[in-house]
Amino acid sequence: MDKSLLSKTAAAMVAKGKGILAADESSGTCEKRFKSVGVECTEDSRRAYRGLLFATPGIEQFVSGVILFDETIRQKSSDGIPFPDFLAKKGIIPGIKVDKGAQDLALAPGEKVTEGLDGLRARLAEYFKLGARFAKWRAVITIGDGIPTHACLYANAHALARYAALCQEASIVPIIEPEVLLDGDHSIERCEEVTEATLRATYAALAAHNVSFEHAILKASMVVSGKENARQAGVGEVAERSLRVLKRTVPAAQPGVVFLSGGQSDVDATAHLNAMAATKGLPWPLSFSYSRALQNPALKTWRGSPQNVAAAQKAFHHRAHMNSLACQGKWKPELEKQAA
Ligand code: 13P
Repeated sequence: MDKSLLSKTAAAMVAKGKGILAADESSGTCEKRFKSVGVECTEDSRRAYRGLLFATPGIEQFVSGVILFDETIRQKSSDGIPFPDFLAKKGIIPGIKVDKGAQDLALAPGEKVTEGLDGLRARLAEYFKLGARFAKWRAVITIGDGIPTHACLYANAHALARYAALCQEASIVPIIEPEVLLDGDHSIERCEEVTEATLRATYAALAAHNVSFEHAILKASMVVSGKENARQAGVGEVAERSLRVLKRTVPAAQPGVVFLSGGQSDVDATAHLNAMAATKGLPWPLSFSYSRALQNPALKTWRGSPQNVAAAQKAFHHRAHMNSLACQGKWKPELEKQAA
């Protein structure tokens, strides 16, 4: 465990004005996303698309790190450079998704537990050699009638803690991602309650497993109204409730908190981050680790055609720029129109 490398990596991940691109969609998720824009999902089309994102000129001003998928960390850019080296040359830290996805939790209808601990120590050692300096593990918490149960929160927290300890042992900074899904008709009050319970369980497990808070990054879901709830909370309320939960549960020792976008619109994800980051006196820097909210416009512009690469890169650059401003509390809605 190289503490000085862990500290350096964690600080760089949340450096001022920078956030993380999540480009670690599994092949199944990629298939869905590509299908929505009429692109056949093959190893080569995934490589072309991710290569386009990584090669976007100037993106390194806004993006500190990229979360890769197992396939992607082994792929090469169009000029034959392994993606981790290609990113590192631009000053972007390569990261890797190491969980093997959420599976049904036994005897717990509607709930999931994330798998992937078996053999993880050896996989982390290999990923380190391939250039990864941080990792991601996503737990999925669903809100519904009588759920989440204590068993679900506990099982997921335990897995996150065991993953995080293995990462730190391997000198890889763990991104700890307990995602409370926004699907459902629950109120924002219920989302706040569940997010707080989730984070409490997660931090208790991290402490029990001796995970160093100084060398880990939290990837949090924002406290929002359920997607089907009739009352959709505004930006100020989302920011206030999200920050209240984080302040109650996340140690100040943590080097930073990044957010997932979770199905929010691109601009909502930016506006929410901006409102939180504009708040004075927070103990940690806040930033983004978005997949959909960074990539959607680029994917829709690209549609699989080499002729659209430059326009797609422009769209990606714009979202990354907007979120870079947002993580400093400097974004304004007018800036969206100027780019059109
Ligand atoms: P979204 O921003 O699309 O929620 O994805 C972030 C992520 O990495 C989920 O694990």
